[in-house]
Amino acid sequence: MPQALHLVARPEGEPKDSDFELRPVEARELVDGEARIAVRYASVDPAMRIWMTEQKSYWPPIGLGEVMRAGGIGEVIESKNPKLPVGAWVGGMTGITEEFITNGKGYRVFDARALPDPTWALHVFGATGFTAYFGLKEIGEPKAGETVVVSAAAGAVGSTVVQLAKAWGCRVIGIAGGAEKCAYVKDELGADEVIDYKNEKVGKRLFETCPDGIDVYFDNVGGEILDSVLKRLKLRARIVVCGGISQYNATGEVRGPANYLSLISARARMEGFVVIDYLHRGDEAIAAMAPLVAAGQLKGKVDVMEGIANFPATLRHLLAGKNFGKQVLKL
Ligand SMILES: NC(=O)c1ccc[n+]([C@@H]2O[C@H](COP(=O)([O-])OP(=O)(O)OC[C@H]3O[C@@H](n4cnc5c(N)ncnc54)[C@H](OP(=O)(O)O)[C@@H]3O)[C@@H](O)[C@H]2O)c1
Repeated sequence: MPQALHLVARPEGEPKDSDFELRPVEARELVDGEARIAVRYASVDPAMRIWMTEQKSYWPPIGLGEVMRAGGIGEVIESKNPKLPVGAWVGGMTGITEEFITNGKGYRVFDARALPDPTWALHVFGATGFTAYFGLKEIGEPKAGETVVVSAAAGAVGSTVVQLAKAWGCRVIGIAGGAEKCAYVKDELGADEVIDYKNEKVGKRLFETCPDGIDVYFDNVGGEILDSVLKRLKLRARIVVCGGISQYNATGEVRGPANYLSLISARARMEGFVVIDYLHRGDEAIAAMAPLVAAGQLKGKVDVMEGIANFPATLRHLLAGKNFGKQVLKL
């Protein structure tokens, strides 16, 4: 019998297995206009940690007892809706569930055969790619020749930002944790310089690698790294506040940017970004990125874990930075 994973407690610090409960999916017949979807892959995202709290964000908190919220992709396995024929792939907010019933509203049908792998609909050609593309283009506004710094540069969003910024003619400095990820950012993704924040002093390395300062900072992590970047801003710099993963498991106060006064002298802008504001323009991002993918200038790496019961472990894996590539859960 298909199962769904429900949030039953608000995690304190790192999410625990006991914060979730597996329950059978309600078995019922379809009515006209509905289709049954078997979820094949769920996207595992750092923002999930925020949705589990009482904190209001761009989405309301997940209610206790509700199915864990997640983006995902799946196949239609039974249908009474001609727009969702059996065998079609759909993408949208599926939740962490093996099956669900929908009338199709809010889900898009996509051609999985046109992608290198169906998971790309969650990665470069999905919300991850749209985050990188629109966050960098619309908020970062990079110009050729400018210096762009990207944190969590080996991660899903960060790796896409690094490659887009290179393709758009920028000088790119990636920040990532550990030698293996740093080598990937430089050798595979083409960053000009890389900073290993786990083994190097970020402030000193930013001074060395950005002698003239930073034009664009794509921030995925917040915390100390953001503070180090704030000290090196160039005139009219732009900071894209995309995420703050260093703070997501914090049990006390979130650390704010102590060096924010640098924004004054640099006449700089620091602006929040949420991808859902741009989802209606997804086709534009796909059209711009597809030629880069075809030319080998934009690569995607996917980290697959398996099994609905492994969702809590997969989320811990991601939040601890153990993922190497876009984190997905195969269901
Ligand atoms: N605003 C939006 O609309 C939007 C949409 C999607 C994602 N995001 C944000 O984008 C960021 C990246 O998300 P993603 O899905 O692409 O995940 P990801 O980068 O693939 O994975 C997260 C990475 O963050 C790094 N990390 C973890 N703890 C850290 C710490 N304390 N300090 C520095 N780095 C740390 C780890 O890499 P290392 O091994 O290098 O530490 C880890 O691999 C997240 O902050 C997420 O919330 C925002």
